[in-house]
Amino acid sequence: MNKDTYILAIESSCDESAAAVVKNGREVCSNVIFSQIELHKLYGGVVPEIASRKHIEKINQVIVEAMSEAKCYLCDMDAIAVTYGPGLVGALLVGVAEAKAIAYAAGKPLVGVHHIEGHIAANYIENLDLEPPFLCLVVSGGHTHLVKVLDYDKFEIIGRTRDDAAGEAFDKVARAIGLGYPGGPKIDKIAKEGNKDAIVFPRAKVEGNPYDFSFSGLKSSVLNYLNQCEMKGIEIKRADVAASFQYAVIDVLISHALQAAKELHIDKLAVAGGVASNSSLREGLQAACNECGIKFYYPSPVFCTDNAAMIGVAGYYAYRAGVRHGWDLNAVPNLKIGQRI
Ligand code: KG4
Ligand code: ZN
Repeated sequence: MNKDTYILAIESSCDESAAAVVKNGREVCSNVIFSQIELHKLYGGVVPEIASRKHIEKINQVIVEAMSEAKCYLCDMDAIAVTYGPGLVGALLVGVAEAKAIAYAAGKPLVGVHHIEGHIAANYIENLDLEPPFLCLVVSGGHTHLVKVLDYDKFEIIGRTRDDAAGEAFDKVARAIGLGYPGGPKIDKIAKEGNKDAIVFPRAKVEGNPYDFSFSGLKSSVLNYLNQCEMKGIEIKRADVAASFQYAVIDVLISHALQAAKELHIDKLAVAGGVASNSSLREGLQAACNECGIKFYYPSPVFCTDNAAMIGVAGYYAYRAGVRHGWDLNAVPNLKIGQRI
């Protein structure tokens, strides 16, 4: 008889303290997230020291809740998975130390997971037919990558941002137009009331690699536009700025992802990371994929932004592939995709 595999997963790389129980890599038994957004809002962005302290306070609580929601005991778990990079070092350390302590005390294997590989794996939760190979557009607060997912544990980055990540651009522009932190969801919402063609912001072409991205010029162009309006006494229509900026970002994301899929003959495209919950990006990718006969996959919004269920899914495939970490597992703030430490 095939035994089910249960993974307890822990995520604390940025400002979400999260724990989840995942069964057989595809079924989420529980997914508990304590978001620290309210705390960091005051400062207009994540304050690393405050994030670490809050993780220490909350991590046990989210794990207990995740176990109880899943109606499981530690003895039912096959492994403890934890994000060990990339992310804020102090924040990562809380999850890593916690996972090590639980795994050691319960006598369970410890599996370190790459945060971005977790974001990609979020696509497996609700798309039971999705299997590698496929192309994934990863768009989060810290990363913008086009990744060829060759297998559950094999990745090739074919495009990346040269400067700001897409989410970072959303957050900076949102701050500039007075929407506050985190900017992505706020721009997404207000953009629905604006005209995306009101202002034409630049789409950066990056030399050397057609799949690379650059968003810092776009951000500067928005800031210049706002300054010009102020100097000339022109009223700033925030909804139009948000819609036009968002259109410029998603236009580039969609065209690069589709160009890569076509040129590399990949007929499955997935999207992952916090910005993947953007409604216009999802609609635009779906329409573009329909036109080209490419199957489009995306996680529900709760699995796009940081969560532990995605770490449990990636952890399951790593566990199945034989990945085991020792008690010397450390946080690796700049861990590369596909890198094993
Ligand atoms: O993946 P994530 O939760 O954390 C990182 O790993 O970075 O992504 C957070 C980013 C933030 O920059 C946030 O503004 C952005 O995702 N975001 C969005 C939306 N929801 C979250 N950006 C655009 N539209 C959204 N609806
Ligand atoms: Zn993330």
